[in-house]
Amino acid sequence: MRVLGVSYGYHDSAVSLVENGRVLEYVTEERMTNIKHDASYPHFAINYCLKKHGLSPRDLDHVTFHEDPYHKFSRVFCASTSRYPWTYLEFTESIKEWFKRKLWALGHLQKELQVPEGRISYFSHHFSHALTAFMGSGFEESAILVMDAVGDWSCSSMYKGFWKDGAPQIQTLREVPFPNSVGLVYSAITAYLGFNPNDGECSTMALSSFGNPKYVADFREILGVGQGDGYQVDQSYFNFIRFYKKPYTKKFEQRFGPPKLKSMKYGFDCLLNFDQQSVSDDEQRLADIACSLQTVFEEILELFVEKVLQETGSRNLAYAGGCALNCKANSKVLSKRPQLQMYIPFDPGDGGTSMGTAQFVAATENRQGFQLSNHVQLPYIGSDSSDHHVVDMIDCFSPESFRNHQFSHFRKKSFSELEDLAKEIAHQIANQQIVGLYQGRSEAGPRALGNRSILIHPGQVDLARKLSREVKERSSFRPYALTVLASEAERIFESDSHLTRHAKWMQYVVKVKPEHSAALRAGLHCDLTTRAHLVEPSENPLLYFILLEMKKLTGYGAVINTSFNGSGYPIVGSASQALSMLTRTSMNSLVLGTTLLEKIP
Ligand SMILES: [Fe+2]
Repeated sequence: MRVLGVSYGYHDSAVSLVENGRVLEYVTEERMTNIKHDASYPHFAINYCLKKHGLSPRDLDHVTFHEDPYHKFSRVFCASTSRYPWTYLEFTESIKEWFKRKLWALGHLQKELQVPEGRISYFSHHFSHALTAFMGSGFEESAILVMDAVGDWSCSSMYKGFWKDGAPQIQTLREVPFPNSVGLVYSAITAYLGFNPNDGECSTMALSSFGNPKYVADFREILGVGQGDGYQVDQSYFNFIRFYKKPYTKKFEQRFGPPKLKSMKYGFDCLLNFDQQSVSDDEQRLADIACSLQTVFEEILELFVEKVLQETGSRNLAYAGGCALNCKANSKVLSKRPQLQMYIPFDPGDGGTSMGTAQFVAATENRQGFQLSNHVQLPYIGSDSSDHHVVDMIDCFSPESFRNHQFSHFRKKSFSELEDLAKEIAHQIANQQIVGLYQGRSEAGPRALGNRSILIHPGQVDLARKLSREVKERSSFRPYALTVLASEAERIFESDSHLTRHAKWMQYVVKVKPEHSAALRAGLHCDLTTRAHLVEPSENPLLYFILLEMKKLTGYGAVINTSFNGSGYPIVGSASQALSMLTRTSMNSLVLGTTLLEKIP
């Protein structure tokens, strides 16, 4: 049985192709169009999946969609009329948008894919997140928690998942309805702190590490921690219904002071320790607000985790939704519960819902064809590039071509043995070069895990600054992450082995032992933590060999691993985009498959 899962319409459009229960493809539209968080109908991603497997839409047995458009419209309608005529703008604009496009999403899918109506299934948005969490987990039974900004109506939801007679079952336990949303609060404060909501939440989390929790009591009160379903947001501080206005109100500004000015730049430096920072009072105030928000978010997550574990009696937790990208909070949950097995999908956000819904239908409709062990174990299920021929184009360039880029030509070297390529890469990294790695299939989710990555030496703080300034164009307060040999984890990390075992795919933060912090400082935050990625030999052979060689050269099987993208762009989706980034930035070399391209001055 062949099922195509589709999610689009809000942000991060994505497509999953599932055959006989196995996820063959997970492709996000942004990697095809180079538009970050592209929300449009995923034409390119669908075409890619079908073409790669020689399929036409007629070959699809079923199509799934990640939300119930009618249910979602009822929320938008109710919200935009709730304070009419003050919500006149919200009402007129959203009605226009919904009647023009969004309300007919299922019909659009049917028309585009030529699939009969009866072969399209749709689920409420949070239920889709829950399916992704449970179907990907490999658990026989588990508690399921979903937290994001808002789905159709729900903002935080709890479920119980289990298998019965060979089919997956999901029971809904509780749903916290809009506008009571801790995810929306996190996004609103993200805007207040000067970052883009639905994108800059990771910056809020990074900034929180520089702050003191001075405003925790304020946030506990505003979020009504412990009230109602676990929290009760005081809506007078936010504009969740009047969504054409700033997401926070004047009342919020009066209580916490003015938002970040556009002209202000955060002067925090993740490469200095917590007590070495030197910033203005205003910057510190904003970091304290981020820290207090993060602390209270963690408290609410804690309440929800406790509740769903109690209600289900499970020791397993599958967790999804945009909030599950908050790796600081995830670590707190695990470190308090040494018995808990926790699963977070590689892409817990909206894109990932295409996967869970397709897997669920495949498993429900064709019970014999689905195995519990079909769950996704490795993230390398994304698009591959067929444009490696750009390597051949390089011979056509003349030194004139690079006049404005401060190098004269590329040295090109192809390798037949992976170990030899890895040795060369490790030597370059050890010699303070910035190396791009573009190999195999891209990773599912927002984290680069060695196939679309930029690697540098973990001990070179100045090099990390150069990487931020001249390649990534990212703020100095945002930390990098470490990719480490799994066999090195116990030696390097202070955190307990239970947390370290889970912290495999950059979904949790772990602390580095003090005696290793200087050697790995460039990959650590101001509190000496890092989002760890642990590598086993079978998972990513080239990366594994690079790390082995780094251990020989530096004493540590570790590198800094950051996503292969420039500021404002998604992770590169083609070899030509990767080559373009090598050419125009201060990167030194690029691996395209098994070919190494090196810039020569
Ligand atoms: Fe979502």
